[in-house]
Amino acid sequence: MLKVLNVVGARPNFMKVAPIVEAMRRRAGEFAPMVVHTGQHYDAQMSDAFFRDLGLPEPDVYLGVGSGSHAAQTAAVMQSFEPVVLRERPDWVLVVGDVNSTLACALVCAKLLVKVAHVEAGLRSRDRTMPEEINRLLTDQVADLLLTPSADADRNLRAEGIPEERIRLVGNVMIDSLFKQLGRAEQSTVREDLGLAGRDYAALTLHRPSNVDDPTTLGRILDALGQISRRLPVVFPVHPRTRKALSEPGLASRLRDAPDLRLIEPLGYLDFLRLYSGARLVLTDSGGIQEETTALGVPCLTLRENTERPVTVELGTNAVVGTDPERILSAARAALDAPRDGRPRPARVPPLWDGRTADRILDALVERTNAS
Ligand code: UD1
Repeated sequence: MLKVLNVVGARPNFMKVAPIVEAMRRRAGEFAPMVVHTGQHYDAQMSDAFFRDLGLPEPDVYLGVGSGSHAAQTAAVMQSFEPVVLRERPDWVLVVGDVNSTLACALVCAKLLVKVAHVEAGLRSRDRTMPEEINRLLTDQVADLLLTPSADADRNLRAEGIPEERIRLVGNVMIDSLFKQLGRAEQSTVREDLGLAGRDYAALTLHRPSNVDDPTTLGRILDALGQISRRLPVVFPVHPRTRKALSEPGLASRLRDAPDLRLIEPLGYLDFLRLYSGARLVLTDSGGIQEETTALGVPCLTLRENTERPVTVELGTNAVVGTDPERILSAARAALDAPRDGRPRPARVPPLWDGRTADRILDALVERTNAS
């Protein structure tokens, strides 16, 4: 019986951990799972809504760390997580993704000689100005089991000198949640509530510090989005970081100039799934949404200069278009002018993005335990 502490911290963690905990509960003879929530994200719409939508059990431990500078937040997670590990003495700690909570908890375990499994290991943007890239590099260095979503991730890890026995290609666990929840999301009335049922619209998300923290950069992106909203409504669930950035007076006037850019509160998992799955076009700087649109064949423009998820471009529906307004506009025009019923080009769902990744993760944990 393996006792596993499953760590969640921020919004993109919940849909990765939910299917893993569910599989562990199903395989109760092999696994005793606990859920630890660091509290990095705490607003109802950034956290509670996801527990509800995804059927995640209430956390066994809530650390309540909250927001802060990178150093303060990382340190606070480490300080509050260490006593939990000492008390619970788990066989494994499982961390997912690339947020500050991921690295903080992995580092605590490395020092306590408790084994760490990292889900979504090996992704690299090669852009060290992104806090997530630092979190990915360091988490992968200290984790004992690196569970990767795609073959490019395996290659990245090998190139960094990680021994083969620590790497295991399991596929993309976010897609487990996506396929599982698709049917339930049909009950969401978000399209009707926004008056968009049966209409063409675009969905937009924006929260990367490099896009939203500098008003000049954000203003340029908003200009392009305003232009796109001349052609179809652009629905924009606004992340708290971005909401703060938009209070800058110069940006408020740009928002007023956009004909149909609709700012709404952040959506829960099911409402957002319902929204983007019906969109003619998705514009985003998120990592996970590049993958989710690829899995569903929805055209996606990524408003960044790079991606740590190249498989979504090589096989999927994603195009990385940067933040130059002219480039965004011409890519959006090309996507909107493409035939309505066809995908932007022959698009494929990457191998092992099949809804069965959680069980492969559990198998890998058992095997690695037995091998060591
Ligand atoms: C974090 C992750 C990022 C992920 C994103 C998803 C890191 C380094 N970044 O970025 O990889 O894509 O989550 O959302 O871990 N805030 C609230 N309510 C909340 C949470 C945050 O109002 O529930 C506000 C606070 O003002 C906070 C700011 O948002 O200072 C940023 O939150 P933080 O967790 O530091 O980073 P994110 O930008 O959310």
